Amino acid sequence: MQLQDVLYSQGFGTRRVCAGLIQHGLVAIDGEVVLDAALNVQTQGLRFTVQGQPWDYHERAYVMLHKPAGTECSQKPSTWPSIYTLLPAPLRQRPQKGAVQGVQAVGRLDQDTTGLLLLTDDGQFIHRMGSPRHHVPKVYEVTVKHPLDDAQVQRLLQGVVLDDDPAPVAAAACEAVSPLHLRLTLTEGKYHQVKRMVAAVGNRVEALHRSRMGDLELPAELAPGQWRWLTPAEVESLMRRG
Ligand code: URA
Repeated sequence: MQLQDVLYSQGFGTRRVCAGLIQHGLVAIDGEVVLDAALNVQTQGLRFTVQGQPWDYHERAYVMLHKPAGTECSQKPSTWPSIYTLLPAPLRQRPQKGAVQGVQAVGRLDQDTTGLLLLTDDGQFIHRMGSPRHHVPKVYEVTVKHPLDDAQVQRLLQGVVLDDDPAPVAAAACEAVSPLHLRLTLTEGKYHQVKRMVAAVGNRVEALHRSRMGDLELPAELAPGQWRWLTPAEVESLMRRG
């Protein structure tokens, strides 16, 4: 692929901007400045820098973000800063079918929820992960207001009725880790589902954190607000489920 097309595909601007970056000596491969925008390069495993910023070529972008509290999973947030401001510009500007599209969150977390959030530019992946048939278990660490009792845990496992659907929803797994800490696993993603389920059994969510999706655990070293690429094995494992 021509180097200018590589930069364009990775979200570094229009083709003309990308050619300009190269011609101005701002792009390097293996520490060597490349001035030929039309240079053919092998994309597999390609690592380059743009204005000193290192970038690994990814045909598709799959990333995880440690969502901090006080951020909205929306491109046009109403009250809180958008999670998208936590990502570097190329991830927000990756083109798709000729338009600037960028990565999109795979489902949403509430403004006050923290933890594991996936983002991608792969529409099929988003569709698949959101499909009710594709049961990716999501694990939530829930801090509750009132000490838990066994009856609450049992009701969450057996199923509770929420106000928008007469069919009960049940946790796939649920354990009281301590009197005020519930670990809850869900396979669907209804609106405010954890908060509404916990309210339905007479308790209240004080803090909510998503620690895992399928086999993918939020790494301890990924601080709130930080992101990293998913490995191909991690993407495959999420795709395989369901
Ligand atoms: N359930 C909720 O209530 N909120 C979230 O952010 C995620 C799951």
